[in-house]
Amino acid sequence: MAKFPVEPFKIKVVEPIRQTSAEERAEILRRAGYNLFAVRAEDVYVDLLTDSGTSAMSDRQWAGVMRGDEAYAGCRNFFNLEEAVQTITGFRHFVPTHQGRAAENVLFTCTVAPGQSVPSNMHFDTTQANVLARGGHPVNLIALAGLDPTLHAPFKGDMDVARLEAFIQETGPENIPLGMLTVTNNSGGGQPVSMANIRATGEALHKYGIPFFLDACRYAENAYFIKLRDPDYAETPVLEIAREMFSYADGCTMSAKKDALVNIGGFLALHDEALYQRVCQELIIREGFPTYGGLAGRDLEAVARGLWEGLDEGYLAYRIAHTRYLADRLVEEGVPILEPPGGHAVYLNVKRFLPHIPQSELPGQALTCALYVEGGVRGVEIGSVMFAHEDAATGETVYPDLELVRLAIPRRVYTQAHLDYVVETCRTLYERREEILGLRYTYAPRLLRHFTARFEPV
Ligand code: F0G
Repeated sequence: MAKFPVEPFKIKVVEPIRQTSAEERAEILRRAGYNLFAVRAEDVYVDLLTDSGTSAMSDRQWAGVMRGDEAYAGCRNFFNLEEAVQTITGFRHFVPTHQGRAAENVLFTCTVAPGQSVPSNMHFDTTQANVLARGGHPVNLIALAGLDPTLHAPFKGDMDVARLEAFIQETGPENIPLGMLTVTNNSGGGQPVSMANIRATGEALHKYGIPFFLDACRYAENAYFIKLRDPDYAETPVLEIAREMFSYADGCTMSAKKDALVNIGGFLALHDEALYQRVCQELIIREGFPTYGGLAGRDLEAVARGLWEGLDEGYLAYRIAHTRYLADRLVEEGVPILEPPGGHAVYLNVKRFLPHIPQSELPGQALTCALYVEGGVRGVEIGSVMFAHEDAATGETVYPDLELVRLAIPRRVYTQAHLDYVVETCRTLYERREEILGLRYTYAPRLLRHFTARFEPV
């Protein structure tokens, strides 16, 4: 029987949630155009749409909010954050941003020219879209193990470094302004990247003079996986593991809404002085002065404190075991998931859950809708709606290898009973899976389609 970890906190503030009936939810969904992003949060019972910005902050973080210094320039909270960022990442310079994609926007505006390529293990959707928005090509070079949803391997987020080198030689280093690694790999199931792979990716890029950035949203969960799964790091403090991860890179983008346990915030950190100067110019246009970067002083303080809490080993042990519990319970019930589970989410393996629905009929989206109607559980499709694209040469639709529904777990928010309820919802649905029908688009925008597309049942 799966084991639930004992929480390293107790609950001081609660937010009531409300259950609706299946009939009400079917109507809500129809009005929302079968897109869960268009459903009101109040009409959701257990919200696993994202682990981003949904953390419960600690009393210490809330106390920090009251210590917000709202000066336009040089507020004390900036310096507290600077100390945390520099101690943890080791990067010389950093600027706050209002969230992760703002850091991506500023970075790519300063580095990517039209026609250039940005390789990564796997870009997240906003990273991909930000590269595309600069006229660049986002390229995913994940090692093959990362595309096998049933293979048990410790580091399925690893980059295929041999393919990366071949790609650099084909494309020419002058056409690659930077390379990236997403740690953990969100789009590929929240799988961690090994230390050896981070080092090797850095070496391969640096050999050709190409800067290397980490997409570091979930760097602490990645560091904890390294501690759990790489015997060389079993006794190493997580802070030291994190510092080593960052030491192979030239900079990072960070959405603090994940491993820094806040509701809003992010940053861009880097070594290069000249690039930092350009970043500051760009930041002032888009986000704000470099000592606040689109955030209030109180938010900066919450990020500074949250960065430390997110590295606490008692917290991380609980966090990873909490996610593992949901995965193990689903496996016990025979529900197909991506294995092993990642750090921040459990991913339902849609190709095995709904083999009767072809990717052209959007089975992942169909499953998110069914989960909502069945139990008021909100997950997110990470499959054909998010990633299918038209082949530039043939005009044919290219579907992603992985068709997933992500159940992302907000940090410090849901109890064992909530997770058991989600398992029960998934189990009931799995028993009735043949009744689930595919969907077709009634509206689809060109970029970041999943947020605003609308559908109808086939
Ligand atoms: N990179 C990764 C790997 C992410 O998962 C996200 C956000 C971002 C960048 C962008 O950060 O939201 O602060 O602008 N992921 C959220 C999610 C939205 O649900 O996975 P942001």
